[in-house]
Amino acid sequence: MITLEQIKQDFQKEWQGMHSLADMEKIKIAFLGKKGIIADQMKLLRDVPAADRAQRGQDLNRLKQEITDKITEQNNRFLEQEEEKLMDKQWLDISLESAYNLAGALHPVTHMRRKLEDVFLSMGFQLLKGNHVETEYYNFEALNIPKDHPARDMQDTFYLGENRLLRTHTSSIQIHGMKKLGAPLRVIGSGKVFRCERVDASHESCFHQLEGMLVDEDISLAHLKYFIDTYTKAVFGSNTKMRLRPAYFPFVEPGLELDLNCMLCGGKGCSACKQTGWIEVMGCGLVHPNVLQAGDVDSKKYSGFAFGIGVDRFAMMAYGIKDIRLLYNGGIPFIQSFA
Ligand code: DAH
Repeated sequence: MITLEQIKQDFQKEWQGMHSLADMEKIKIAFLGKKGIIADQMKLLRDVPAADRAQRGQDLNRLKQEITDKITEQNNRFLEQEEEKLMDKQWLDISLESAYNLAGALHPVTHMRRKLEDVFLSMGFQLLKGNHVETEYYNFEALNIPKDHPARDMQDTFYLGENRLLRTHTSSIQIHGMKKLGAPLRVIGSGKVFRCERVDASHESCFHQLEGMLVDEDISLAHLKYFIDTYTKAVFGSNTKMRLRPAYFPFVEPGLELDLNCMLCGGKGCSACKQTGWIEVMGCGLVHPNVLQAGDVDSKKYSGFAFGIGVDRFAMMAYGIKDIRLLYNGGIPFIQSFA
C-alpha cells in the first residue's frame, strides 16, 4: 500500500517532466488507467482495516478527481496549441492586392447632369423619371412620327420585339409628363438613350440626354430663347458663343438646333466638332399640336416648347474632353481626374 502523499509526489514528479501530449497520455495511463496506480490502490482497499476503509476510499476518489481535472485542463491547452500551430502553417491570404487606391469620383456626365438639373429645378421645373425600355408608341407615334415615316430613319433603333425598343431619345418623357400632370406644366427628365450608331469621337451607341418641356398659354420662341440663354450661361458663363438654326424634328414646329462654339478648339475646327468649329448640343422647338393632343392637352388653349440636351456633349465642352469614347471605356484614371 502506498500513502496518498507518496502518490501525489510521484504524480508531481512525472508532471514536471511532461512536455507533450504523448508524455501526458503515458502519465494518464500510469495513474488513471485500469491497471494504473489509483486502480491498484482501490483493489487493495479490502486489506485496509474496516475502520479506515471508507476514509481511504474517499481520499483515493478525491485524488483521482484532482488528477483527472488537471489532465483534462492540460489536454485542452495542448489542443489549442495544436490548432494555433496548424493555423500558422495553413494560413492562406486569398485577398488580391489592389492596383489602385480606389477613391470614388462622380462621372463627368453625372456632374453635368446634376448641374443642369439644378438650374432647371431652380426655374420651377419638375424632375420626372423615364423608362429605358419604351413602347414604339411613346418613342415615336405619340411624338408625331408615324410608322413608315422617313423620320424614323433619323434614329437607328434597337428594337426588342413586341412593339418595344430601347428609347432613342428622352422625348417620350414629354408624353408621360403631359398625361400624368396635364397643362400647364414644366418638366425635365434625363438619362441614357440608345442608338445603333457608328461609334466615333462624337458618337456613342449609348449616351445621355436631358429633356425639357414647358406648356402654358401663349408660349412662343421668345420664351424658349430666354430659357436657353439662361441655362447655357449658368453652365458655361456669360461669354458663351452659340447659334440657333432651323432644323427638322417631327414633334416640334418650328424646330431648331442649338450649336455651341466648340470650346475644345476655340472654334478653329477639330475631330470633336468635325472641323466645323461648332458642335450640336440640343434640339428644340415649339411643341407640335399633334404631340399636345397625344398628351391629352388642349392644343387650342395651350402651346409650349420642348428641348433635348446632349448631356455628354455639354460635359465634353465644359471639361475639355475631346473624345466621347473616353466617357464610356471604364478607364479609372480618367474618372479619377475629376475627383
Ligand atoms: N429627341 C431629339 C433627338 O434625340 C432631340 C429633340 C429635338 C428634343 C427637339 C426635343 C425637341 O424636345 O423639341 O434628336
